[in-house]
Amino acid sequence: MMSIAQGIPDNTTRIREEFQDRKFGIFIHWGIYSMLANGEWVMHNRSLGRDEYAKLAGGFFPSRFDAREWTKLFKEAGAQYVTFTSRHHDGFSMWATKASPYNIMEATPFKRDIVGELAQACQEQSLKLHFYYSHMDWQRTDYPTGWCKNCPHDPATTDWDSYYRFMNNQLTELLTSYGPIGAIWFDGMWDHKEKEFDWRLEEQYALIKRLQPDCLIGNNHHGSPIGVEDFQLFEQDLPGQNTAGFSGEQKVAQIPLETCMTMNNTWGYDITDKAYKSGDELIRRLVTAAGLNANFLLNVGPRPDGKLPEEAVERLLHIGRFLKANGESIYGTRGGCVPPQAWGVTTQKGKTLYIHILNKVEDGQIFLPLTGKKLKKVSTFAEGTRLEFRQEKDGVRIFLPSQPETVDFVLTATMK
Ligand code: GLC
Repeated sequence: MMSIAQGIPDNTTRIREEFQDRKFGIFIHWGIYSMLANGEWVMHNRSLGRDEYAKLAGGFFPSRFDAREWTKLFKEAGAQYVTFTSRHHDGFSMWATKASPYNIMEATPFKRDIVGELAQACQEQSLKLHFYYSHMDWQRTDYPTGWCKNCPHDPATTDWDSYYRFMNNQLTELLTSYGPIGAIWFDGMWDHKEKEFDWRLEEQYALIKRLQPDCLIGNNHHGSPIGVEDFQLFEQDLPGQNTAGFSGEQKVAQIPLETCMTMNNTWGYDITDKAYKSGDELIRRLVTAAGLNANFLLNVGPRPDGKLPEEAVERLLHIGRFLKANGESIYGTRGGCVPPQAWGVTTQKGKTLYIHILNKVEDGQIFLPLTGKKLKKVSTFAEGTRLEFRQEKDGVRIFLPSQPETVDFVLTATMK
């Protein structure tokens, strides 16, 4: 149903809020590139010929892949959704697509529908499944090459209409064969930065909403949201930051936000990349994202045998322990009415303000610039110990007990 006034479907508020409530998701970058163990861009970065690269598929047999083992772990980590690379820039499809033989069933000896198994396992664990889907394709000769020139396509074979039809056929499969899908997560549109290139998003987005009205749409185009996009994406940065250089000119929009991040430096499995952020550092990013009103989508790059790197497993369990104890202050919250401070961030649920002290406080007190609002009560989240506070002209000063050795010292404040 559409509310004719704006062309925005009626269920929009509900599905966007449900998404925001989930707060924490796992991103999975997995494909035949994992075999080369040098990230998901290896085909492009090493200018590998498409025919030679495609032969990798003949050896893809992830003998230790167990979707249930993955989703059990994700659940234990406290994640509420999973975003899976159904087809990355290399053009290889990880499901039983009929739109091209270049897929897990036809081109590999594995012949198991990985997307299907994951969808089933997600359902069993009540995890929402989102699909990453690349707009760019280095393999198909009908795709019109743009800015990524290392795997060039012969202009004579370029056929945008054919490629567009192919994408929509694939999206139709993904949205009609695997149960309810939480979101389609597009990527790669930046391959054509020219204004005159028409991706025909409106029609594509309408197709998605027609097939699954509750499916959200997000697009990692590094710009401000377009049309009916339901959430805004930030790559390797929290909303409002641009340390990685992907946020461009985009302003933080008034729609749900999601920050995606790697645990080390690469999305797809990289055998030499051991630059893992610590478990505590990842918790810090997750909590800070929540304080900035954003979901946190944390990546894992499974190995070619189908197992997750040990470092990733360890960190997920660490986050899981934190969320088990502190989840109430994260799930279902929104960024708090106190903006980020030197000491940390706040999240909020109704009249309850969760104060996340992420940094060392020197003088045993924190100040919350809270104007127009008064606090009724402040206590520690873990023990429920009442804390002293003083209402001042520009806000509230809270007096802390000795700060525990924990990544996030959470307080609960009730507002009048
Ligand atoms: C970038 C990369 C891509 C990765 C994505 C995840 O757009 O091109 O490889 O999947 O970021 O955010």
